[in-house]
Amino acid sequence: MKRFIGFNAFRIFFLFLLIISCKAMAQNQQKQDPIDVKVNALLSKMTISEKVGQMNQYNGFWEVTGPVPKEGNAKLKYEHLKNGLVGSVLNVKGAENVRKLQEIVVKQSRLGIPLLFGFDVIHGHKTLFPIPLGQAASWDLEAIEKSERVAAIEASAVGINWTFAPMVDITRDARWGRVMEGAGEDPYLGAAIGVARVKGFQGKNLKDSTSIIATAKHFAGYGFAESGRDYNTVDIGSSSLYNTILPPFKAVVDGGVSTVMNSFNVINGVPSTGNAFLQRNILKGKWNFNGFVVSDWGSGYEMIDHGFAKDLKQVAEISVKAGSDMDMESYAYLTHLKSLVEEGKVPIKLVDDAVKRILRVKFELGLFDNPYKYCDTAKERKMIYHPDHLAAALDMAKKSIVLLKNNHNLLPLAKDQQNIAVIGALANDNNGPLGSWRIGSDDNSAVTVIEGIKKYTTDFVYSKGADVVIGKTDFINEVKINETDTSGFEAAREAAKAAKVVVMVLGEHGFQTGEGRSRTKLDLPGVQQQLLEAIYQVNPNIVLVMMNGRPLAITWAQLHIPAIVEAWQLGTQTGNAVAQVLFGDYNPSGKLTMTFPRSVGQVPIYYNHYNTGRPSPKDVVFWSHYSDESNKPLYPFGFGLSYSTFEYSDLKVDASKPSAIKVSVTIKNNSEVGGEEVAQLYIHQCVGSIVRPVKELKGFKKFYLKAHESKTIQFGLTNRELGYYNNEGNFIVEKGEYDIMVGTNSEELLQKRITKK
Ligand code: NOJ
Repeated sequence: MKRFIGFNAFRIFFLFLLIISCKAMAQNQQKQDPIDVKVNALLSKMTISEKVGQMNQYNGFWEVTGPVPKEGNAKLKYEHLKNGLVGSVLNVKGAENVRKLQEIVVKQSRLGIPLLFGFDVIHGHKTLFPIPLGQAASWDLEAIEKSERVAAIEASAVGINWTFAPMVDITRDARWGRVMEGAGEDPYLGAAIGVARVKGFQGKNLKDSTSIIATAKHFAGYGFAESGRDYNTVDIGSSSLYNTILPPFKAVVDGGVSTVMNSFNVINGVPSTGNAFLQRNILKGKWNFNGFVVSDWGSGYEMIDHGFAKDLKQVAEISVKAGSDMDMESYAYLTHLKSLVEEGKVPIKLVDDAVKRILRVKFELGLFDNPYKYCDTAKERKMIYHPDHLAAALDMAKKSIVLLKNNHNLLPLAKDQQNIAVIGALANDNNGPLGSWRIGSDDNSAVTVIEGIKKYTTDFVYSKGADVVIGKTDFINEVKINETDTSGFEAAREAAKAAKVVVMVLGEHGFQTGEGRSRTKLDLPGVQQQLLEAIYQVNPNIVLVMMNGRPLAITWAQLHIPAIVEAWQLGTQTGNAVAQVLFGDYNPSGKLTMTFPRSVGQVPIYYNHYNTGRPSPKDVVFWSHYSDESNKPLYPFGFGLSYSTFEYSDLKVDASKPSAIKVSVTIKNNSEVGGEEVAQLYIHQCVGSIVRPVKELKGFKKFYLKAHESKTIQFGLTNRELGYYNNEGNFIVEKGEYDIMVGTNSEELLQKRITKK
């Protein structure tokens, strides 16, 4: 009997356990992300080769609508596509081309896993927006997000579902050609702009057929290339890494960016592609990034040149262990990863992790539901250069312009301004102002400045003065600068002599910046400075319109020329935007996001530097300065004028709640014209356990004020803004004194000191 009771009790207990564990299993299944379930199911069907295939990205290699490649590398790649050995291709565009390529993989490979189609959509696809550095000068997150939305709509219409943007590298060195591709020197602003750009590309829902996945690049430190020379060594301390380089990446990861691209550079001796500390510990570990990492073009095999790997096999081993999930054009994974796994040198779980990440993104995009969702030729025809896109590009272009100088209100010109001389090759150029990194667009498609001016007046003469570049320009070749030909000077001087006002358009051709385009000089290229001075001699009433992809040291111009407009490379709508500013239909509101140096020797120059122990002038030479140039920039970070004049007053700071500090300031438009202003909030922690920058941007607001209107603007400062990363990478907030500063740029500021308890 006893035994019977015992047996029954055991049965009841067992049943109870069974019920509990079934319930737990059911709950678990409920909780399991449905995408994980699909990813795992697919993964379980894949061979090692197919897994490695997903980690392989090829450049577009043949004219897809043409005959099938019969030999060489193209044939090999084609075979790989059919055999499921390619996860993604880049540089293939056109709804029809993409469909054809996708069909090969979906219909012919064993598992039919759709491809991702990557492309550098950097500042628009066909309709070009200003270069990113120009867009950043708008400080207008909504407009920036809209620009990327439009870029995504056009790119997705031509079959692209993945852009290699935004570049969120912080850049302090104007010699580096890729400063044009980022948001400038400030990590706080850079983070905000990066998030806006990701939102624009990825849209509200990745399943939407106009959403494309974004890439935060280049992880990490690429913007700190020594001496501004592209691909050069990066050697930085922990504080710069944690407080300057990483925050924009962290922000976009938190903001849901789907992919991260590593970089060409070594950072503190370790190439990024092989950098486990960056990719595994920080990105995928501390930050919990669940998208995937793509290498930069061939950055895997470049580790051999760096002296970090002895051969391609070691490249594959180092890269996968370090967390680089997809190999762009190194062929390392495809050639060696399978055998590395079979030899026991690489655990299969690392491969599985990379593949899961890639498949997850493909599921999120809805490619398994419809691999051809980006392949609608009718939509392609309708969306390219859509009038709404041109309008958005014009809006962004106007907002990107920065008024640098306007003595005696020379600008705006009267709408019926007569007798203008327009001088400079860039005024009549419909290609240079499109900027760099625009491989999907059409050459020679910008509205020129002359065409823009014609919409206001025909009472002008145009004289080129001098060419900026000689011969053909393109994305892959060095531009040739006109260093000698001044034969057009005389005609230009004659035109200027007879004019009431001279509009000179000078600067860089779009292809003077971008990848591989570093400079040692930051002056006006070629004979343009000479031209400027020659014209100034006969008519100093000059409006200088600058087109450039990086800060330039136009110190002579700032001293002599009465009005200077920074117009970057504004893209498709260049001429319309410039003309609307020149003739006052748009009141400029842009502010620089990179410091302009007075001389190239000051570079890297940036506003948020540390103090030295000897910051102030002394009678003798022993203080931190140059013997032949001031320490001051030509134009500071955050600087930009308007046709309105704004006056700041009444700064109030309430620090009674130490982690919710309230700041307010009143701004008055003291002029007859309405305009937009960007109020900027900076902090300085007076004493820290590591030294703190002299100023750090921690808030900004852009708003419109009617003529004579005034407004009180509020800011909040929480521990998020007040804290920083120590040298161990931990975020800390310290008590003590802080200066709180608000103003129109990083130098003209009202200031109050508070004690944070
Ligand atoms: C190299 C560049 O560094 C990267 O930014 C770009 O996305 C890739 N090439 C692909 O074109």
